[in-house]
Amino acid sequence: MALLKSKKNKTITGKGLNKLNTKSVNIKPKTTKKIINRYHFLIKCRAYIFQLLNLNFTKTDDEEINKSVRAYLKENMKNVHIELDSEDELLNLRKKYQKNKRLSSKDLDNLNCLLNFITKEIVDNGGLQKYQIASIMGQNSDRGGDSSKKLMKWILELNDSGKNFKDMITLEIGCLRIDNVISQHKYKKFIKSIERIDLNSNHPDIKKEDFLLKTLPESNEDKFDLISCSLVVNFVPDENKRGEMMIRLKKFCKNQGLVFLVLPLPCVTNSRFTDDELLVSKIMEQGLNFKLLKKHKSNKIAYYLFQNNNMVFNENFLKKNHGSKRIINNKPGMNNFCITFG
Ligand SMILES: C[S@@+](CC[C@H](N)C(=O)[O-])C[C@H]1O[C@@H](n2cnc3c(N)ncnc32)[C@H](O)[C@@H]1O
Repeated sequence: MALLKSKKNKTITGKGLNKLNTKSVNIKPKTTKKIINRYHFLIKCRAYIFQLLNLNFTKTDDEEINKSVRAYLKENMKNVHIELDSEDELLNLRKKYQKNKRLSSKDLDNLNCLLNFITKEIVDNGGLQKYQIASIMGQNSDRGGDSSKKLMKWILELNDSGKNFKDMITLEIGCLRIDNVISQHKYKKFIKSIERIDLNSNHPDIKKEDFLLKTLPESNEDKFDLISCSLVVNFVPDENKRGEMMIRLKKFCKNQGLVFLVLPLPCVTNSRFTDDELLVSKIMEQGLNFKLLKKHKSNKIAYYLFQNNNMVFNENFLKKNHGSKRIINNKPGMNNFCITFG
């Protein structure tokens, strides 16, 4: 794993993230935001270039991807001395290079060069691990804290109103730390156990596992009563993989189980392709047969709690109606967040 270097070429912390006391690491909120946004931008561009070049790397792990890209470039990057304004190329990637269009050899050279540029920047800047540190710092300051606080508040409310959400076998996807509110001893009677997974593990209790590659449950016993998927779907750089993730949430959730879904607010309030209605009514309710139990929007974050109505879901509906991107809003400054089922 690449070292986590600050500008002065020192590690941000000498310790591994598992021992990380984020209070002692001081990245300003503005900087955490920059690191997070830049990483998202780079992996989104990378995913698009993979599609253009028809590269199908099975691994989604940061280090494995970097390794595979390097091996690919070693074989295929013929022209290493191209004059290219990489930043401008990346900003205009979708305009300049369209999917399913034949690429000229110049296009190929350019795309390989961009892939090299992206990989180098990701590695030089500390990759997923630095992103995760920035996310933890963001959790502390920028985003109103640990999202499981909201989840546990809702679980208590639901139990107070006569529902019975106790002893839940839980899956936490995209887990950065093991001391979040959901893990507190006082909630033991609600949360029986937690399986924590992430693409990059920073603690022995967090399994390094890609949810998109997790073996599908064979029986109900292998499924979960509660799945937390907080700020993970938006991390996935490919819109079809996001759809795959949503379907997997369904497949891993027990009948009547819960899914806690958290997204950055602009994904549902400022996207050309997604809004609250589309996510909740069309995808989650009509498509996946979940029922919305709770919803909250803060300044920056949208939180949802869904219950699995029954095990059947309508994949055909999702494919037919949300198989590809469709513009539903179009104002200047909107983002392109999208979930598709192609
Ligand atoms: C922004 S962090 C969110 C962390 C935390 N859940 C929160 O709410 O603050 C996103 C995390 O999701 C992880 N992640 C993304 N895709 C994943 C996948 N397919 N399987 C497991 N973890 C994934 C990333 O490695 C990253 O650590």
